Amino acid sequence: MADVKRAGVRALVAAALLMTASFGAQAADKEITLGFSQVGAESAWRTANTESVKSAAPAAGINLKFADAQQKQENQIKAIRSYIAQKVDVIAFSPVVESGWEPILQEAKAAKIPVILTDRNIDVKDTSLYVTMIGSDFLEEGRRGGHWLEEHYKNDKGPINIVELQGTVGSAPANDRHAGLIEVIKDDPKFKIIASQSGDFTLAGGKQVMEAFAKTYGSKINVVYAHNDDMALGAIQAMEEAGMHPGKDPVVVSFDATHGGFQAMVDGKINVDVECSPLLGPQLMQAAKDVVAGKTLPRRIKTEETVFTQADAAKIMPTRKY
Ligand code: AHR
Repeated sequence: MADVKRAGVRALVAAALLMTASFGAQAADKEITLGFSQVGAESAWRTANTESVKSAAPAAGINLKFADAQQKQENQIKAIRSYIAQKVDVIAFSPVVESGWEPILQEAKAAKIPVILTDRNIDVKDTSLYVTMIGSDFLEEGRRGGHWLEEHYKNDKGPINIVELQGTVGSAPANDRHAGLIEVIKDDPKFKIIASQSGDFTLAGGKQVMEAFAKTYGSKINVVYAHNDDMALGAIQAMEEAGMHPGKDPVVVSFDATHGGFQAMVDGKINVDVECSPLLGPQLMQAAKDVVAGKTLPRRIKTEETVFTQADAAKIMPTRKY
């Protein structure tokens, strides 16, 4: 009789273990829902970034909820709040500006939803409000643009007058590409930034700002330092309409290294394009999976990038993916 009882208990324990194991497998296999708030559709870079995120999600078996914030922080806050209400597993966003994120990220933290930053960084005291930041080092990109100018003008006594087409006011790439340039040229008095204005990372914005710069400063301008390719391309149109010769006089420094930027280098109108990769989708999906699996992620995942010049543009252009 005791044997029969023992066998019964063993069978119950085995059944319970089987059930636990199968629930565990279900939990591990449960489809992850990722709520992603994108900045907008302001540039060719952004279009490539959106495509990268949208195609990486199904490839990784992730259910993606996507919202375009049209370059407005309030829209990003609304989207994040709605992802919290929907109880998504992970929230990711590319913050339009650096400041003002604490309250909404506190809400995500209270709901125990992990947050991943992608592309742009934020300025918060409490760094526990996000798990990791995946993207470029914009400060280093700015330094790279500055170093190229230093080298290009090493035998020139100057003055070298720079006009700067800045990205979206308050955004990480605008702040850091400016700061990186300043860091490099600040001790060399021959370099002077004679004007700086935001073109909001758009082609139309770059064209409009450059039209005004061309009218005010004309042939005094030696360098156009544009924070992205779209603004550089808009500025090139404005300069040509004003009878200037972009790529010769003035020299044009740009960022992103998109197809448009490469074509302008091949055409001799952009001199140097500092790479900024938008292909962040696969890394983002991996990070979302890791965070759900309880793994510890590095606080900062930096993108590998380089600098392209006119000299190698034609050869490299066919290999470019965005
Ligand atoms: O945050 C990345 C920047 O945003 C890219 O340089 C620019 O093209 C985009 O709009």
